[in-house]
Amino acid sequence: MADKLIIFDTTLRDGEQSPGASMTKDEKIRIAKQLERLRVDVIEAGFAAASPGDFESIKAIAGIIKESTVCSLSRANDRDIARAAEALAPAARKRIHTFIATSPLHMEKKLRMSPEQVLEQAKQAVRFARNFTDDVEFSPEDGSRSDIDFLCRVLETVINEGATTINFADTVGYGVPELYGNMLKTLRERIPNSDKAVWSVHCHNDLGMAVANSLAGIMIGGARQIECTINGLGERAGNTSLEEVVMAVKTRKDYFRLDVGIDTTQIVPASKLVSQITGFAVQPNKAVVGANAFAHASGIHQDGVLKARDTYEIMRAEDVGWTANKIVLGKLSGRNAFKQRLEELGIELESETEVNAAFARFKELADRKAEIFDEDIIALVADEQHSHDNEHYRFVSLRQHSETGERPTAKVVFTMGGKELACEGQGNGPVDATVNAIESEAKSGSELLLFSVNAITTGTQSQGEVTMRLSKAGRIVNGVGADPDIVVASAKAYLSALNKLHSKVDKLNPQL
Ligand code: KIV
Ligand code: ZN
Repeated sequence: MADKLIIFDTTLRDGEQSPGASMTKDEKIRIAKQLERLRVDVIEAGFAAASPGDFESIKAIAGIIKESTVCSLSRANDRDIARAAEALAPAARKRIHTFIATSPLHMEKKLRMSPEQVLEQAKQAVRFARNFTDDVEFSPEDGSRSDIDFLCRVLETVINEGATTINFADTVGYGVPELYGNMLKTLRERIPNSDKAVWSVHCHNDLGMAVANSLAGIMIGGARQIECTINGLGERAGNTSLEEVVMAVKTRKDYFRLDVGIDTTQIVPASKLVSQITGFAVQPNKAVVGANAFAHASGIHQDGVLKARDTYEIMRAEDVGWTANKIVLGKLSGRNAFKQRLEELGIELESETEVNAAFARFKELADRKAEIFDEDIIALVADEQHSHDNEHYRFVSLRQHSETGERPTAKVVFTMGGKELACEGQGNGPVDATVNAIESEAKSGSELLLFSVNAITTGTQSQGEVTMRLSKAGRIVNGVGADPDIVVASAKAYLSALNKLHSKVDKLNPQL
């Protein structure tokens, strides 16, 4: 029987550390549910001690997720570990992941600690964490730039204290596959108790080698856990991307000879959800989840695929969750058909009131758009959920005028704290005029960092999905809005971002 490869997803922790990718509790819960549908083995839900918002999100996820293990990161100190344990208390399966830097550079310049102090702190941390759970992971931060003799001493010590997973971190993406894999192999060979722990890889993508390094860590180093994120989201150039390692191991099982428990048909829905929530678009030529990943433009390729699909396709689009744009519902579809489609798409709404609200929006949309696709339903429900997130501002209506040679104007009606306001603005373009109109009343004083528009489906009748990223006093938030009219979608996205800025629960910055 092939060994199992444990898939540890850290989209909600390391992924969230991408500047601009911070998520609200509700958004994290939606992603966690999708990760469970994807059947990831471990969900790193956050860093409990980082902020009250992170703590609450982990606690909520721990109470909801039943199949996957829920994990919290913590520095190697009692306060962080106790906070992680408290947040994880409701979990059916829980893991505490504690870390401390072991490279000379980090110990001297960042921690200002001697190697002996680091060794002692790592030992005490794992010992303390074992009071709360038998499932304790230890990471030597900047492991790949650490002295191998020192690393052997630290890792042998923490395994003796009961660490059950050792995560060899390539924190700054410095590794190259052969060297990284061999260093891990040496560690496992030299550490006498190495067989008492599962070995894990955690690679960053600064040189574009995170996936290659992770796979070398498996094949050369003998790792049996991979840490990764959806769409490769993560600090700087990101982390190892889940979809790429999973599909590599599955497609080349002849070589890797490992089993993964992932339901691959949930990969594309997970990718879309994460992209939609964070506002980080997926590049079209991204492996597996990019819009062009299965598109054949050249005549020779098209001809080949029509004759025998495997001439140019090594994976099947439907196996990773791509579905053809299907018209699923229309103006005459009833509530039951709508509800059934929600179920088929794996969308869970919490109450009948929410189903009714989503159905009302669906009817509104169907009046304006003849063909409703799955993507429309997903966007519509997301839009509905965004507007429920701390709803201080709500879009009501918009009237906009633009004509060649004239400065565009917009009149927007929205509610602020329940009070309806009508405002007007001018701008360089219709979206600028709309935002200026809203700002004339909201006076948020925020800075717009990103404005992006995406067609949800094909054709000019497609809904536009707009992301607006705002920053204010060190906080960065994303707002998303969808509508067949992209100016309306922009107004909704702007108001959704203002709602998030208005909410006090989120942390200032995902990084500590
Ligand atoms: O990159 C890193 O070193 C980390 C650790 C906390 C595992 O994210
Ligand atoms: Zn990391």
